[in-house]
Amino acid sequence: MGGQIAHQAALHGFEVRLLSRRPERLESAMRDGAAVLRRRVEKGKLSHGELAAAVARITPLTDPATALQGAELVIETVAEDRDTKREVLQRICEHVGDDVIIGTNSSTLPSSLLAAHVTCPERFLNVHFFNPPLLMPLVEVVKGPHTAESTVNSAMDFAEAVGKTPVLVRRETYGFVVNRILFIAMQEAFRLVEGGYVSIEDCDIAVRNGLSWPMGMFELADLVGLDVVESILAEGLAQTGEQRWAPPAILHEHVARGELGRKTGRGFLKKH
Ligand code: 3HC
Repeated sequence: MGGQIAHQAALHGFEVRLLSRRPERLESAMRDGAAVLRRRVEKGKLSHGELAAAVARITPLTDPATALQGAELVIETVAEDRDTKREVLQRICEHVGDDVIIGTNSSTLPSSLLAAHVTCPERFLNVHFFNPPLLMPLVEVVKGPHTAESTVNSAMDFAEAVGKTPVLVRRETYGFVVNRILFIAMQEAFRLVEGGYVSIEDCDIAVRNGLSWPMGMFELADLVGLDVVESILAEGLAQTGEQRWAPPAILHEHVARGELGRKTGRGFLKKH
């Protein structure tokens, strides 16, 4: 997510620093982003010069002090784990000025659950991109109870400036808008297959052809990552107490086997 968000911003003229403590993560993020842009050049949607300029605007770095110095906006995209996010946010705040805006790309942790760990909660909020970020137009900008109106406006402006369509979620709710709709739909798909009503393949065919959604629920779960889907559902159950979020056995079985979807080459679909 971080790598594609960086490329999206660079394409729109922003100077971007991409920070990870693991050099191999930086390398794969740069490789993945450049590969998507190269396909656009091959299709005549982007010039060689625009590609080279975008890539040149991204500086991959492993040192937080250098990466964060003078930053105006920071978006963290680390793992969806509360302790990891809290630790990373604290470290970010050690290196930035008081006027910086900090966005968390978290889809499961509303910023109010993390706000105690930033220096200026009024400049902190969820800025939620969708997967794959170079392609999906939507960004959800979610106002926490601590977030200043001016921060919300800046985040909306930023999302537009990087070519996205932002929507403002005025109050925090689990799943915000899209995931609240999507993952409950996905749960119904899991229940249909678990109940023996339909095969995985036919369920996906039905959703693609009956709803005109670009992917069926199982193909999409594989794109998001089955471990991520499971943790989104588990977090939904924990935060809301509503059984409709409870992760189903069919999902857990795949995760336990290490079949996590596209990233492992196998998930609900046998091959990617
Ligand atoms: N990264 C970047 N670009 C990608 C990509 C990826 N992972 N996968 C495909 N693309 C590009 C292709 O290069 C191609 O670009 P081009 O038109 O310039 O050549 C374009 O997407 C179309 O690709 P394909 O023809 O191979 O495949 P599709 O027509 O099926 O499109 C898709 C792929 C855009 C991913 C489409 O299937 C889609 O929109 N799927 C639904 C995605 C979705 O719902 N995402 C939201 C997930 S939920 C989420 O993110 C929330 C989070 O909190 C979990």
